[in-house]
Amino acid sequence: MLIGRACRLAGRISCCTAKPLAFFSSSSSNMAKSKFEYVRNFETDDSCLRNCYIVVRLDGRNFHKFADQHKFTKPNDNRALGLMTQSARCVMSELEDIVIAYGQSDEFSFVFKRSSTLFKRRASKLMTHVVSQFSSSYVFYWKEFFGEQTLLFPPSFDGRVVLYPSNRNLRDYLSWRQADCHINNLYNTVFWTLVQKGRLTTTQAEDRLKRDETVTKRLKLPNEEEKDVPVTRSRRRVQDHHCDIIADQFWQEHPDILEDDGS
Ligand code: GTP
Ligand code: MG
Repeated sequence: MLIGRACRLAGRISCCTAKPLAFFSSSSSNMAKSKFEYVRNFETDDSCLRNCYIVVRLDGRNFHKFADQHKFTKPNDNRALGLMTQSARCVMSELEDIVIAYGQSDEFSFVFKRSSTLFKRRASKLMTHVVSQFSSSYVFYWKEFFGEQTLLFPPSFDGRVVLYPSNRNLRDYLSWRQADCHINNLYNTVFWTLVQKGRLTTTQAEDRLKRDETVTKRLKLPNEEEKDVPVTRSRRRVQDHHCDIIADQFWQEHPDILEDDGS
């Protein structure tokens, strides 16, 4: 067979052809093997541990830019979400051992059943099939969701494989992704409302939503002296404490709770 291949040479792309290789030797088992056959031994075994759920998660590359250039609505673009879902549906119908898929933003997780023997559980096979089927579907169905809006360049997705040994672990994984979705959505919704309806600049909105703010508090020291100290106040973080709030120590350690009333 003649193989045509694009070779990148000194910044130019040219085409070269390779002749069929014909260096074969016969072994006693009557199998024809080339002298190059040994390179196969460099391949590593990447089959996934048995009895584990196999999760393949893909994520759009540089979708911040992709979303901007394709004018995705903020914070959520229903066309983009629909296209992601349709592409995931396509992956699931091609790879029958996937039992559930969960997606948000530019990512999707696919869970293969624990007992799956698809592609001999080889991580690279599973991951690349998921990612390539998803990517080609994303392009294939683009028009169905974006109509006349042109796809400006080919999108790409990375992929990873993670194994979860128990039902609890798998549920916690999915919960983790969904909690991430809620946190991001909450932030993005408030952020874009401040910008679009509150007329703040993106920097002002970012500042408003910062996790910590530093304020100066006047503290009375045990020797009756007063001192201004910078205090970092947590705006969004909620912390648990199990301690004595009758004695002074707690209040001295948390001077940001009570406002100064001169007492
Ligand atoms: P890498 O994944 O590291 O390559 O970077 P990324 O730019 O893809 O960022 P990341 O995967 O962390 O986040 C996805 C990004 O896609 C978001 O930050 C948004 O900018 C964009 N995005 C995803 N969905 C939407 C959407 O519905 N609307 C808009 N406007 N943007 C979206
Ligand atoms: Mg991404």
